[in-house]
Amino acid sequence: MLKEVIGKPAAGFVLVRREIVALTQNHPLVRAIYRGNQKAMTVYLRRFWPFVAAFERIIDEQSRRHGRAVARAIGDIALFREIRVHLREMKKEEGEHAGLWHRSAQSAGVNLDDSGACPQVERLIARMRDASPDTLFIALWVTEVIANAISEKAMKSRALARFDREWFRVHTALEELSHEAIDRFIITRMLGDKLHDCFREEALEVFDLFAAAADAAWPH
Ligand SMILES: [Fe+2]
Repeated sequence: MLKEVIGKPAAGFVLVRREIVALTQNHPLVRAIYRGNQKAMTVYLRRFWPFVAAFERIIDEQSRRHGRAVARAIGDIALFREIRVHLREMKKEEGEHAGLWHRSAQSAGVNLDDSGACPQVERLIARMRDASPDTLFIALWVTEVIANAISEKAMKSRALARFDREWFRVHTALEELSHEAIDRFIITRMLGDKLHDCFREEALEVFDLFAAAADAAWPH
């Protein structure tokens, strides 16, 4: 059922997505990663690890907390049940992705054990943990778009071929009902006519939190 109603992204999504992809792929830290720069890999893997590690729990707690609001916005019990199954799957898959992040780190000789969250990553985690139902799925959507943007190019980089790239690979294969598509569908239903007023601004604010965390570790 979800497959039939999920549809193609509205123009607003396409444009904001393009903007975030460009900002991500042009970020100096991300460009250094594509060149296979060991220091950049270390910074990236360590800095964002606390966020990656927390992501599964955030999805779980937040989708439980906001279940009712999502159900109301969806307005159809059967459809909401289907979405709930996908959200559970999403939570589980993000747990697996955290394992893949660990594998990347191992292959790059990077130790994650003592990598605590810097203030910028703390802010990012707090933003998602405390998000309202309206803004939560925008934040999740931005996270998926960034992961996909980084991964598309990382999979094409010869310099990265020596690392375990499974984390990148799973973030390039976007299926019809990808995490991104499900987030997008929920955002569309949650925001309705308000979508155009606040979506871009909110999405870019979340992007800026990621960028601030990268900038702090990779001054340029
Ligand atoms: Fe993921």
